Amino acid sequence: MSDDIKFEGLAKGLTNYGDMDFSIYLRRSFASSMGYSREMLSKPIIGIAHTPSGYNNCHRHFPELLEAVKRGVLAAGGLPVEFPTISLGEVFLNPTSLMYRNLMSMDTEEMVRAQPMDAVVLLGGCDKTVPAQLMGAASAGVPAIQLVAGPMMTGKHDGERLGACTDCRRFWGQYRAGNVDDQEIKTVEGRLATTAGTCAVMGTASTMACIAEALGMSLPGTAAIPAVHADRLRAAEASGAAAMRLAANKTAPTDIINRDSIENALRVLLALGGSTNAIIHLTAIAGRVGVDIPLTWLNELSDTTPVLVNLKPTGSHYMEDFFAAGGMGAVLREIKPLLNLDCMTVAGETLGERLARDEGAWVDQDVISAFDDPVEPVGGLVALFGSLAPEGAILKRSAADKAMFEKEGRAVVFSSLEDLSNRIDDLELDVTEDDFLVMQNAGPKSGTGMPEAGYLPIPSKLARAGLKDMVRISDARMSGTAFGTIVLHVTPEASIGGPLGLVRNGDRIKLSVKDRRIDLLVDDTELEKRRQESPPTLPHPQRGYQKLYMDTVLQADQGCDFDFLKATK
Ligand code: FES
Repeated sequence: MSDDIKFEGLAKGLTNYGDMDFSIYLRRSFASSMGYSREMLSKPIIGIAHTPSGYNNCHRHFPELLEAVKRGVLAAGGLPVEFPTISLGEVFLNPTSLMYRNLMSMDTEEMVRAQPMDAVVLLGGCDKTVPAQLMGAASAGVPAIQLVAGPMMTGKHDGERLGACTDCRRFWGQYRAGNVDDQEIKTVEGRLATTAGTCAVMGTASTMACIAEALGMSLPGTAAIPAVHADRLRAAEASGAAAMRLAANKTAPTDIINRDSIENALRVLLALGGSTNAIIHLTAIAGRVGVDIPLTWLNELSDTTPVLVNLKPTGSHYMEDFFAAGGMGAVLREIKPLLNLDCMTVAGETLGERLARDEGAWVDQDVISAFDDPVEPVGGLVALFGSLAPEGAILKRSAADKAMFEKEGRAVVFSSLEDLSNRIDDLELDVTEDDFLVMQNAGPKSGTGMPEAGYLPIPSKLARAGLKDMVRISDARMSGTAFGTIVLHVTPEASIGGPLGLVRNGDRIKLSVKDRRIDLLVDDTELEKRRQESPPTLPHPQRGYQKLYMDTVLQADQGCDFDFLKATK
């Protein structure tokens, strides 16, 4: 009965109760109830992991993208079958979207593996969705291609360009400082995010879209196409056709994601001055294929990779400008000497073959600089180590104030998110602009899910005096659209006994970006004494997914994946 099935198609993963012919007969019979002809059911099947949601504004246009993917699959001779997985809309999830990234990765992995499909097109976009899908696909082992949502278009407010969500923060900062009134902030609120697509700057979503392309998991030139551009629909159609080729060649994600392509993705992350979240996500993706990313490797690459991209939050342009300026192709060509060109891509060509094809294409160097005239001579991210962060911490140096790179300051400590929110705007708070704000207990195992709270607000009394930045340190994350001299992902985190939890008001902390260090200047005897004090009581969920998360999530330097989801070596 299976002779007419060229690929595995509908017969893939049949239950075997001793009579396989009966199993396919039964499956065909139920599939027929959806109106497919027998001829259609004998074709290769391309699954489409479809993630629209009423809670995900960034995926608003996915129904239209889905139709274009299906067109591509049908034209190439396959049967497209969409299926839902959970969707993560960044701002709608409590306590934080990161907590659900691993859940989405498990959903993706299991549904891709459990259902009959020869390949899968992954439709994702908002921050956590692309890493979740790549993690799941890497573990499922089925041929896969990523199609991203694409960025939103910018809007305007009183003649000024606005893009979510760097400008959200800028206006909110001005509102807190008293320079923008209630009426204006309401008007701006309605103008920040006006089209489908992901945030309009080089935030986490755009960084991950570029990383997916750098890994070779998306078609060339597709990362930055705006969500509402007709090219995105053409990219969707082409992704459907490419999935058919991947299925025919049985190209597994592990044929594409390997140490060399991961190094390429790290180079791209650094050249973009991309989101700090991306190092967590890329580490988690790499972990699914058995590749470790020690933060010392990040530093080695960072020292030899210039920042080339002049985009917000660190620069002045938006994603639509990046696309028009040459997009990822231009960045990859500039850093070509640093890349591993033999890496295979979902287009069926190597990275080197792709770049040779694009040689000499036009580039707007106001947006994407030449390698020998970069925006910054070294990479956007740097890992810091020291007595405050023995396993590392991350600073986005391209978004930080260099005047604070070599600095010692007095700690002003908040023991939790709640403590921060209760006291940060207290006019009696003992804080000056030279102090270091420290927040504890916001790491992966804190019960908060490691929120993007590392962008601690400037205390109201300093903000009103015009202060825009100060050193802030935590075990939390920061939105990819944020900026400032902010030390994040301090590992080990405070809630599992990391030294960050031992910091007290008035302690001295020394930051040295030059030496890649962050040190707590308190002697060991005193620290040992503090270690004996009882730790603060933190929530520890006792059931369900949140318990699984708390029990098995790894630290930031391990990508915050679950310990049992990493590849077994
Ligand atoms: Fe979805 Fe920013 S909220 S990408």
